[in-house]
Amino acid sequence: MENVVIRESMAKDIPVILGLLYELGRPRPQKDSEIESFRKLVKQYIDDTDKKILVAEFDGVEIIGMVSIVLLSRLNQTSRELYIPELIVREKFQNQGIGKKLINSCISIAKEKKCHRIRLESGNKRKESHKFYKKLGFEQSGLSFTKNLN
Ligand SMILES: CC(C)(COP(=O)(O)OP(=O)(O)OC[C@H]1O[C@@H](n2cnc3c(N)ncnc32)[C@H](O)[C@@H]1OP(=O)(O)O)[C@@H](O)C(=O)NCCC(=O)NCCS
Repeated sequence: MENVVIRESMAKDIPVILGLLYELGRPRPQKDSEIESFRKLVKQYIDDTDKKILVAEFDGVEIIGMVSIVLLSRLNQTSRELYIPELIVREKFQNQGIGKKLINSCISIAKEKKCHRIRLESGNKRKESHKFYKKLGFEQSGLSFTKNLN
């Protein structure tokens, strides 16, 4: 899709970003105070120098996808890794190259910041996204373990 631009997010994008995260299956806030906390967390990603949110904007008006980025230091590496906590393309716009555009922008940032790699996790059930990552040259390099505490 040619009329899609990838750009850094701004404060005005926060409600749409929260909507996309719910689409991805992230928990919906149960109380007003939680909505405010989520807003603040997104704002922090926009403001922090070691974090970013990129959005895919269609026709200069509609946000149809997003990727979040964290630059992480590792103890055995002199350069940071670019970690991707969230990536989503709105269902209607999937399979049209938007996810690839978002990942390519992450690759450009990783190169610019001289990162040694890009890393992400993807749930066992997301079989289609696993195929997408492999198509884009990602290798399955480990298992992810989670201990839920609440
Ligand atoms: C996974 C996701 C981000 C991919 O984005 P997308 O815009 O649909 O993917 P693209 O159209 O950019 O696909 C890029 C390439 O991957 C390939 N691809 C995408 N999905 C694929 C699949 N299920 N099987 C095989 N190949 C696939 C495409 O054919 C394309 O190949 P090409 O470069 O040769 O043309 C998107 O489908 C999505 O948001 N899914 C729901 C949320 C999700 O699972 N997010 C990831 C959480 S870990």
